[in-house]
Amino acid sequence: MRRWAAAAAAGIILIVAAGLVARALRDDAKLTLPAGVPTPAPGTYARPLGVAVRLDASRSDAVYARGWLEHYTSVTPENELKWEIVEPREGEFDFAKADAIVRAARRAGKRVRGHTLTWDIQLPGWLTSRTWSAREMEDILRTHVRRVVGHFRGRIAQWDVVNEPLDTDGSLTRSVFAQALGERFVDIAFDAAHRADPRARLFLNEIASELPSAKQDALVALARRLVARGVPIDGVGLQDHTTADAAPTQAILSRDIARFARLGLDVEFTELDVGVRPGMPLDAAHLAAQARGYAAAAAACRAARACTGVTVWGVDDKWSWLGPQWRATPYAADGTPKPAAAALRRALRP
Ligand code: G3I
Repeated sequence: MRRWAAAAAAGIILIVAAGLVARALRDDAKLTLPAGVPTPAPGTYARPLGVAVRLDASRSDAVYARGWLEHYTSVTPENELKWEIVEPREGEFDFAKADAIVRAARRAGKRVRGHTLTWDIQLPGWLTSRTWSAREMEDILRTHVRRVVGHFRGRIAQWDVVNEPLDTDGSLTRSVFAQALGERFVDIAFDAAHRADPRARLFLNEIASELPSAKQDALVALARRLVARGVPIDGVGLQDHTTADAAPTQAILSRDIARFARLGLDVEFTELDVGVRPGMPLDAAHLAAQARGYAAAAAACRAARACTGVTVWGVDDKWSWLGPQWRATPYAADGTPKPAAAALRRALRP
């Protein structure tokens, strides 16, 4: 009798524990946003105006959640789709965090950009702690891309398939992918993404390539080779992390767009932010310079048929990846708009 009771108790404990685990998993997949926030219809701006969004901030900070709901028509999960989060152990995929953002963004009518399928940063230990043969790496890469893109098929409009493949001098960064496969890793990633969701728009995304440089030339050359090889690439993402005192002008950005448009590719400004150096006063002059930096990218995009969107990298200064001291986003730490917010809207008037 006593044995029976012990077994029953153990059974009950197991059921309760399983229930708790299931609820925790469900909660992780959920993001409840503030109710009653007016959200812009998709055609509010001449191009999708996007923002990078963090799950932790969206849950803990109502000003932040309200900010991205109210001001933007496109959303990029800032970290939640990166390899270390979605495939922390080989072959084990965890989409809970990304799902939470993607579902909430789509419920609010936003386009979603997927960032990113391959990058040499934010990779899990199992992938970086040894070297792989070309065949092993091709297998790992194809599995990862197929599973991730397949999971979001029809829900994520665009993917940064390859992020930051080039070094400053224009050579291929020696990532785990490049070490095993050379440039062919890029072809493989795009091919796998296209097979997993033929309708998703596929981008090559690069940092610090807005000003004329060896790196920009190398990016154009890489894009040209991909197109020539028939790789299913749709566009190039120019990140445009910049500062108020050095932001590229509209003319420079228009020339950038034209270089890729000539190859038949789309362009997006995928990670725009315009910092004001720590210690500089956030006075009218600096706010105006920052607004000009934002407007330059938006106006260049607006003026080119090949430019399909502009995404700001961070909802407000409190949560910006640069830290609040850089004051890099269009909204202050308390969510109030700076002149950059109006400048973006003005430049993207339909
Ligand atoms: O999630 C962990 C958390 O568990 C831990 O307690 C905490 C302690 O530091 O770190 C958290 O992870 C951080 C993560 O952001 C989420 O906040 C990482 O340390 C931090 O390194 C990571 O930074 C991200 C960075 O990419 C990684 O290099 C930034 O948020 C993200 O904005 C930034 O975004 C990149 C783009 O993906 C590619 N282009 C450049 C851009 C800016 O660096």
